[in-house]
Amino acid sequence: MCGIVGYVGRAQAAPIVLDGLEKLEYRGYDSAGMAIFDGERIHITKSVGRLKVLQELTHDGGTMPGCLGIGHTRWATHGAPSDENAHPHFNAKETIAVVHNGIIENYLPLKKKLEGRGYTFRSETDTEVLAHMLDYYYKGDPMDAIIKVLHRVEGSYALGILFADFPGELFAVRKDSPLIVGQNKEGCFIASDVPAILRYTREVTYIENQEIVRLTADGLHIYNVDEEEVEKTPVTIEWDAEAAEKAGYEHFMLKEMYEQPKTVTDTISPRMRGNEIIIEELGMDDGKLRQVKKLHIVACGSAYHAGVTGKYVLEGLARIPVEVDLASEFRYRNPILEEGAMVVVISQSGETADTLAALRESKKRGFPVLGIVNVVGSSIAREADNVMYTWAGPEIAVATTKAYSAQLVALYLLAMKLAQVRGTVTQEELAGMMDDLRRLPDQIELLLNNKNRIQRFANRYIAARDVFFIGRSIDYAISMEGSLKLKEISYIHSEAYAAGELKHGTISLIEEGTLVAAVSTQPELYQKTISNMVEVKSRGAFVLAVTCEGNREIEKAADYVIYIPHTNRFFTNSLAIIPLQLFSYYVAVGKGCDVDKPRNLAKSVTVE
Ligand code: AGP
Ligand code: GLU
Repeated sequence: MCGIVGYVGRAQAAPIVLDGLEKLEYRGYDSAGMAIFDGERIHITKSVGRLKVLQELTHDGGTMPGCLGIGHTRWATHGAPSDENAHPHFNAKETIAVVHNGIIENYLPLKKKLEGRGYTFRSETDTEVLAHMLDYYYKGDPMDAIIKVLHRVEGSYALGILFADFPGELFAVRKDSPLIVGQNKEGCFIASDVPAILRYTREVTYIENQEIVRLTADGLHIYNVDEEEVEKTPVTIEWDAEAAEKAGYEHFMLKEMYEQPKTVTDTISPRMRGNEIIIEELGMDDGKLRQVKKLHIVACGSAYHAGVTGKYVLEGLARIPVEVDLASEFRYRNPILEEGAMVVVISQSGETADTLAALRESKKRGFPVLGIVNVVGSSIAREADNVMYTWAGPEIAVATTKAYSAQLVALYLLAMKLAQVRGTVTQEELAGMMDDLRRLPDQIELLLNNKNRIQRFANRYIAARDVFFIGRSIDYAISMEGSLKLKEISYIHSEAYAAGELKHGTISLIEEGTLVAAVSTQPELYQKTISNMVEVKSRGAFVLAVTCEGNREIEKAADYVIYIPHTNRFFTNSLAIIPLQLFSYYVAVGKGCDVDKPRNLAKSVTVE
C-alpha cells in the first residue's frame, strides 16, 4: 500500500505533488519519489527514506519544474525499501513513468516473458513490469496500451502514468486499490485519498475498478475498458482540511485521542431519538432484523478487537450468537454461514484488503453484509450492502484511537437495537442505557484530563521489555487493544491474556518487576481478577489496575490503580481504553519513537 498523487495543470506540479504526498505519508513511508515532465522529457527523483528526503533532494520541488507530474510514498511489498525500488518506475527509453499502489500478483511470469523479449529490469519490484508492458504495447495510443496491460495483469493496482509523447496529459486507472480524482480552475488531480487534494478542491470523484481516467489542465474524462466514456457525479467533501492537520498537538495520535468525546457524540447522537435507537442505514425494518439469527463479525487489528468487545455486548444484551473472525483467517477457513446469518465487517479505512476480501466472499455466498466503516466512499463502504458510518473524521496516526472508540459505540447501538427488536431488554433498561451512552463523552473527557498522572507512570516503563495485559470477559477484549497499542507504537513486547489463562503457561514469563496491567470492570468478576493479580504479584510483577470507581478492594492487590467512572457494564471498554491509550502514547514519546508513523506499519493495509 502506498500513496499516489498526480497533477496536470497550469501551476507547478512538483510542489503540489509533494504537498499531497505529505498528507498520504500515513499510507506508507519507506521511500518516496516523483516524476515530472519539464516540457521536453520526464525526470524522476526518488529515494529511500521519509518524504522529507525527497523534499530536500528537490528543494521542495524547486529543482523539478513542469506542470505535469506524479508522486509516490512507498510501503514495500516486493523488494526492500531502496532507491532503485522506490517509485516512479521508467521504461528503458524513459518515456513512460508509472507509480503504483498495490500488488501485481502474476508479475513473475510477466517479468520472464518481458525478459525474453529483451527487457531488462532495474528494480526488484512487481511494479516495474507495468512500465515495460506499457512500453511493449504502446504504439502511439496510451489508452490502447493501458487497456492491453489491464487485461494481462492480476492483482491490485492504482496507477498514475505519464507518457512523454503526451506532455499535457495524465493517465490513471485502478483495481482494488483506492483512487480519486478532482479538478479546479488551475488543473486536475489524482490521489489515493481525499486529504491529498482537499487544499485544491472539495469536489472529488471516486474511480471504480478498471476505470481509466485521462486528465488535462482543462478537465478529466473517465472511460471503461471498452473505452466508452463513463459519466460520474463528483461528491462534495464536507469535512475540513483542518481536520487532517495537527492543530497544535505534538502528534496526530494525541489530537485524535482528544477528539474521542466528539467522535463518540457524533456517532451516537444521530441514532438516538428520544427513547428510540434508530439506525436507518441498516436498511432493515424491525421485522427483518428479527429474522437475523447470527452475526459474523470480521475485521483486522484494532477493528477486530472492537469486534471482540462487540461479541460480548451483542450476545449479552441481545442474546444473539456472534462469531468474530480475523479477516485474514475468515476467507480461507471456509466458514459455515447458515440461513439467517448477517456478516458485519468493521474497518476504519474501508480499504483493508483482507476485510474487503471477506466482504466479497460473504456476498458471493449470498449473505447480507453490514459495514461499520469510517472513511466515506471507501471500497468497503461502497461494496457492503449497508453501511453504518463511524463519524470519527479523518484519522491520520497509524495507531487508531478515535475510530476504534467510534466502532465500539456503533456496536453498542447495534446491540441495543437488536435487543429492542428481540425483546431482550425492557424499554426502561434501554432508556437507562441510552442515558449511559450519552454520558460517555464527558466521562472520556474526564479520563483524558488525567493525562499527567498517566504520563508520570508511563515514564517509569520506558525501558520495559515485556508487558502483560490481563482481564476477564469484556475486560479481556480491552486488554487485547491495550496490548496492541503499546507494541505498535513503543516497540515493547506485550501480550494480552485472559486473566484465568495465565496459570496455564504464561505465568512462567513473569519476572521481578514485569508490568502486568489488569483490567477489571465487571463487579461479578472483581474477586476472580484480584486472585489473578495476586498470583502475578507474588511472582514479582508490578500490577497496574484499571477498575471502576468504588472498587477499593483492588488496592490490596494492585501497586497502582486507575479508576474509571461508572457506566453500564457493557460500555466499560469505552472508558478503560483511555488510560491504556495514554499509557502507550507516553511510553512511546518517552522512548523517542515516531508515534504517528511507527516502523514497518502503514495506516491502510491494502495488501493481503
Ligand atoms: C490499529 O492501531 C492498527 N494500526 C491496525 O491494527 C488496524 O486497526 C487494522 O489494520 C485494521 O484497519 P482498518 O480498520 O482500516 O480496516
Ligand atoms: N508492490 C509495489 C512495491 O512493492 C507497490 C507497493 C505500494 O503499494 O507501496 O513497490
